[in-house]
Amino acid sequence: MSKVIVITGASSGIGALLARRLAERSDELMLAARRSKELGQLARSCGRNTFPFTTDVTRRQDVNRLRDEALRTFDHVDVWINNAGRGITRKVMDLTDADLDEMMAVNVKSALYGMQAIMPHFMERGKGHLINVSSFLARIPHAASRSAYNASKSALNSLTANLRMDLAAEYPDINISVVMPGAVATDFAVNALYAPADAAPVSTAQSTEEVVTAIIDLIDHPRPEIYTNPEIQLEQVKQYYSDVAAFERNMRR
Ligand SMILES: NC(=O)c1ccc[n+]([C@@H]2O[C@H](COP(=O)([O-])OP(=O)(O)OC[C@H]3O[C@@H](n4cnc5c(N)ncnc54)[C@H](OP(=O)(O)O)[C@@H]3O)[C@@H](O)[C@H]2O)c1
Repeated sequence: MSKVIVITGASSGIGALLARRLAERSDELMLAARRSKELGQLARSCGRNTFPFTTDVTRRQDVNRLRDEALRTFDHVDVWINNAGRGITRKVMDLTDADLDEMMAVNVKSALYGMQAIMPHFMERGKGHLINVSSFLARIPHAASRSAYNASKSALNSLTANLRMDLAAEYPDINISVVMPGAVATDFAVNALYAPADAAPVSTAQSTEEVVTAIIDLIDHPRPEIYTNPEIQLEQVKQYYSDVAAFERNMRR
């Protein structure tokens, strides 16, 4: 059965391809991002059940308006996906207050606004699915130059888990999930704050298609959290948490 789905960060990368794939299976979509032109073009190509809504997710008012527009258009929301995010390329010792604030605003506060905007609707219906797109760097911060980004995604994982724990007993049909992709072949590296001129996805990056397939499977089969490349990531998590020093030594080799 088709679902009503809100996706933030839908103007490019993971969010844009996710929108295309969900539209192909007749889900009804409200797409959000700042770049109106890209968003409008994408929405038109997705068909008549997809709508763009220009949103800066670092502004609570914008996120509330996005929720209102989705409810006005579709009457209800089944799935809300906080996917908007941005990286940084700066070592810990070089971080400024503004850098940290920017990472927390775009990666944590944005998702908190989304959670607080849609949850009353889910609670009223007694069902719904909230998905926060985090990063594997939240679990293993092995890309040191991503520094404040890694910290912000760790914070996002914690808030997501705590919201799930708050609601589980009273609202068993509200699902709260976190998605942890490793490197993905999008413009994420290019769009990062302080990206070097030659920034590009790493050669081992997972395809956006694979990541989107994993997120669609999560929509169909809700779980608390997923890795998008579990065969590799689960083994790394085991190694990291059993011996952090050895893991970091291996990284240096
Ligand atoms: N690619 C990777 O290697 C990777 C790995 C792990 C996790 N992730 C996560 O995956 C998510 C999507 O990233 P991506 O790889 O698809 O990168 P991307 O192509 O750079 O997409 C980022 C999206 O976020 C939106 N966005 C950024 N700031 C925003 C703001 N203030 N308000 C509204 N929208 C905003 C951008 O839209 P506008 O610029 O139009 O606003 C864009 O649509 C992010 O949360 C990222 O942290 C990516």
